[in-house]
This record gives sequence, C-alpha cells and structure tokens, in this order.
Amino acid sequence: MTLDELRTAIEELERDLRERLEAVDGDAALEALRVDFLGRKGRVARLFKNLGQLDTSLRREAGRLLNALKETATEAVSQKEAEARRGRLEERLAAERIDMSLPGVHTSFGHLHPLTVVQREIESIFMKMGFSVASGPEIETEYYNFDALNIPVEHPARADWDTFYIDETTLLRPHTSPVQIRVMEQTEPPVRVICPGRCYRRDTQDATHSPVFHQIELLWVEEGLSLANLKYVLELFTQEFFGEGYTMLFSGDYFPFTEPSVQVHIKAPDADDWLEIMGAGMVDPAVLEAVGYDTETYTGFAFGLGIERMAMLKYGIEDIRVFLTNDLRFIRQF
Ligand code: FA5
Repeated sequence: MTLDELRTAIEELERDLRERLEAVDGDAALEALRVDFLGRKGRVARLFKNLGQLDTSLRREAGRLLNALKETATEAVSQKEAEARRGRLEERLAAERIDMSLPGVHTSFGHLHPLTVVQREIESIFMKMGFSVASGPEIETEYYNFDALNIPVEHPARADWDTFYIDETTLLRPHTSPVQIRVMEQTEPPVRVICPGRCYRRDTQDATHSPVFHQIELLWVEEGLSLANLKYVLELFTQEFFGEGYTMLFSGDYFPFTEPSVQVHIKAPDADDWLEIMGAGMVDPAVLEAVGYDTETYTGFAFGLGIERMAMLKYGIEDIRVFLTNDLRFIRQF
C-alpha cells in the first residue's frame, strides 16, 4: 500500500463514519457503530495493520495519519454519545418537571370544639385561683343525684331533675352537683374543686336549652366562708372570662342543697336580654353533715355553671343548637 492509498482509505473511513454517525439512532446502534469503527478488530484497527506492509521510510508519516484518524474518530463517537446522554437527560427533566405554580396539597388540621375551648378556659381561670379539677360519672345513682343533695324521695324538686333512668335507681345525671358529694366523701376539708362534665335533662330544645349540655360545678368548703366570698369569686371570674362591659345580676333562687340560694344572670355589652348562667348558694349544712363534715367549723359555697351559655355570651351565639349540629361553617370560626 502506498501513502496515497492510505490517505484515500482514511478519507473514505472518515466519510463513512460521519454519514453513519449522522444516521445512527438509539444507544444500541451507537455502541455497534463504535465497535465497528473503534473496536479491537474494527476498521481503524484494521487500517493500522497496513503499517507493516509500508515501506519503512513511509511508516512514520503513515503512523501520524492513522493516529490522527483514531483521535478524530474517537472524538466524533464520544461527542455523539454525549449528545445522546444530554438528550436522555432533557427527556427525563421534561417528564419529571414539577410545576411550582400548582396549588399545594391542602392538609387540614383539626382544632378544639368551641365548648372544649371555653371549658378549658374556665378551668384555667379557677386553677389560677387554687381550685383543682375533678370528675364524676354521667350515669349516676339516685343517692348522689338526689338523697345526698338533700332531695329526699317525696321532695318536689326531685321531679325537676328527673331525667333518663337506666333502671330504678340509676339515671343520666341532670347536673354536676353529685360530684360535690363524691369529692367530699374522699376529701377532708378544706375543699376547693371544680367539676366539669356533661349533663342530661328532659328539657324541650329551644334557643337556650338542650337535652344534652355541659356544666361546671364549683365547690369551696373552708372555715369562715360566706356569700360575700362567693360573690367576690364570681366577680373575679366573670371579669377574667368576659373582660369589660359584661354585667352580672344576682337574684334569689331555691335549691334544696344550698341555703341561701341564688341565680346569676349575665348581660353582654350590647345585648338587651339577661342570660341565666348558673345556680349557686351556700352549701346547706344538711349536705355537709351527710358527708360527715363538722358544720360548726365549716361552711362552703357551690355553683353549677352552664358552659354552653358562657360560650353563647362570649361569642354572641344566639342559638344553643349550633353546638351540636356539626355545621362546619360554625365550627370553623373557632
Ligand atoms: C343546677 O343544675 C344546680 N345543680 C346548680 C347549683 C349547683 C346550685 C351548686 C347550687 C349549688 P340549674 O338547673 O339552674 O341548677 O342549672 C344551672 C345552669 O345549667 C343553668 O343556669 C344553665 O346555665 C345550665 N342549664 C341548665 N339546663 C340547661 C339546658 N337544658 N341546656 C343548657 N344549659 C342548661
């Protein structure tokens, strides 16, 4: 082979390579093409074999030409490979593109029911005043619900609180007052406790009554307590819970377990009507005696406060039924 023939062969190989690179499609075809030209037995390697047949004086120049060929061929193939890689990456990026302008996935977190919020707020106010929190059963015996509260069988007040009986002597409690007895049975005076919980009554449902509602009972028994202390505690509490502008009205009432008894009404700043929020009074000595307290030394006061009514006054809610209907438009406002 002459040097000219070699040059022609190189040119031909380069042209072929260019054409085939142009037309090649897919990774497998490109790899086959690489082996075909640059493999150990490929076309470039085969041209190198001609070196041996050349005249010694030409070998140096032929070697240079062949090395240059190998370099350009390798370069051309790797360029094509890089192009293919870039193409694949671009395809992937396009497929996996994240549209940051899409709205996010909305996760809604639950929150406390307004009655729970109000109950906890009331609890925390009384806890600051040194009261602890106790609870009692919703299914209560006649003894705790009536007898121990100075309401004997023949007493007409029993009818006021007759609710849903489970059997002859157990009923759903109509108020949280039985918890007073349960606490006093377990504790020596002084007692300073609040008892939140659910209550049940045969009340016809209307804007301010529900057959299921919540009360918070308060009981303070200690030496030297009087109605003035009760009034002071209530004033402190309403001031703390409602803030400015709410007015409190004390009036006489009757409960078999308190003497004297009062009821408390509250009026919101711009409201026309008073809303009754609690019954209260000085604990009747008969009740203290029933749990074995020394009535010569100890006096006490108690109240039963409606939680729904407190929430209604605070948030300007006009109908008690909204607490139970589960209307999210209402619930979400809190
Ligand atoms: C009692 O239940 C007494 N146990 C309160 C008490 C406790 C007096 C300790 C003295 C000493 P009364 O029936 O008035 O009292 O109810 C108290 C409060 O519970 C009411 O002022 C009202 O806020 C709430 N309440 C009563 N019935 C309902 C009802 N059906 N729906 C919503 N709230 C009610």
